[in-house]
Amino acid sequence: MDKLKIIGGNKLYGDVAVSGAKNAALPILIASILTDEKLEIENVPELKDILTTSVLLRHLGVDVRLYKNSCTLDASQVAITEAPYELVKTMRASILVLGPLLARFGKAVVSLPGGCSIGARPVDLHIKALEKMGAKINIHNGYIEASLKHLPNNKLQGCKIFMDQVSVTGTENIMMAATLASGTTYIENAAREPEVEDLGKLLISMGASIKGLGTDLIQIDGVEKLFGAKHSVMFDRIEAGTYMAAVVVTGGEITLKGVNPSQLESVIEKIKDAGVDVSCKNNEITILKNNNKINPVNIRTGVYPSFPTDMQAQFMAINILAQGSSEVTETIFENRFMHVQELVRMGASIDVKGNTAFVKGVNCLEGASVMATDLRASASLVIAGLAAKGETIIERIYHLDRGYERIEEKLNALGAKVERIH
Ligand code: EPZ
Repeated sequence: MDKLKIIGGNKLYGDVAVSGAKNAALPILIASILTDEKLEIENVPELKDILTTSVLLRHLGVDVRLYKNSCTLDASQVAITEAPYELVKTMRASILVLGPLLARFGKAVVSLPGGCSIGARPVDLHIKALEKMGAKINIHNGYIEASLKHLPNNKLQGCKIFMDQVSVTGTENIMMAATLASGTTYIENAAREPEVEDLGKLLISMGASIKGLGTDLIQIDGVEKLFGAKHSVMFDRIEAGTYMAAVVVTGGEITLKGVNPSQLESVIEKIKDAGVDVSCKNNEITILKNNNKINPVNIRTGVYPSFPTDMQAQFMAINILAQGSSEVTETIFENRFMHVQELVRMGASIDVKGNTAFVKGVNCLEGASVMATDLRASASLVIAGLAAKGETIIERIYHLDRGYERIEEKLNALGAKVERIH
């Protein structure tokens, strides 16, 4: 398994071209199932999860052609409506094929995703909503078996869905399913994340009728058919935030290109509180850190537009080097502090009580051998390694490769010393 070797202590200078958003690209590729016409998607990040999604879609019979950062998809020949455990277990977002398969083919058998290291991550909200829309769903041998054959013309029925909890992929699954339902579906307490909005924009360009994107009430008027479309994936907010966090701890000056600052406001505010200069102009954010003082910043994750849970681990890597104490509270997932013990091995002082980590800033970190446990935990270890004295070896970086395109290339271009060891 690959490792990353990082020699810490270098300041970062230069530009970063931010890639397309993983969490927008995944549902967008899967939306191809909804039509028998071709989708052309641009700004697709080259990530492990994108490859996994293309393997799953090809398994169903979608003709997926991935070029560097673009992708064409043709689901006119889909013959299989089953997503097997072997494929689903490697990427939870595979659950997103459930809604589209049901909407287009009236049946689907999708493996339950199972848990992951950051939490149980059930899909009960997805299932409950589809049942409310008329689907008959059995859970059998770890599979979700869904069918519409008892419904008039084999179609989901539009209705009012209240999501007990804000769920990003839950909202996306139902929104995709509702595009071809008969009647109107209202999703109340819908997720407002920009990635949900980006998927919605693609669906509208395919001929769907959707109102309220970006708000907590989304209205979808079912249509007969969806058509081919072209779409460019939005920028990755979390990748951008990760590089912002990196320069806070290393010092230097970097400019993030191809971003929309208005979709990163909560992160920008907290980065400013940590004591760096942030300037935003059109689609660029410049971070300047020319002193070695870091202010401790209290963080409480929440649904958009609050501070994103996917940036919690990365911000903890800032707080561990701050002058003072801070609290990091995780409200979305029940076990998203796997990075804490690894950061402690590098000299951090963190005490976890329930869903809050109490951090006491230290003057410096020591490079060490550490282990990545999940995607964003890995990112926090990279950030800590960039700031630490000496050498840090990060093992199991396949976690990192799921969500960060060419990370060592981008970091080395900024002056870091990062080497991938095969
Ligand atoms: C999406 O996961 C993202 N993944 C996650 O990013 C992100 O952390 C998360 O949203 C929160 O923003 C993708 O978009 C592919 P949720 P998702 O449903 O949709 C509970 C990353 O690092 N819940 O919004 O799975 C759930 O347990 C990944 O890129 C239920 O109880 O998250 C959690 O506590 C990690 N039942 C909360 O809701 C359900 O049916 C929010 O989960 C669904 C969710």
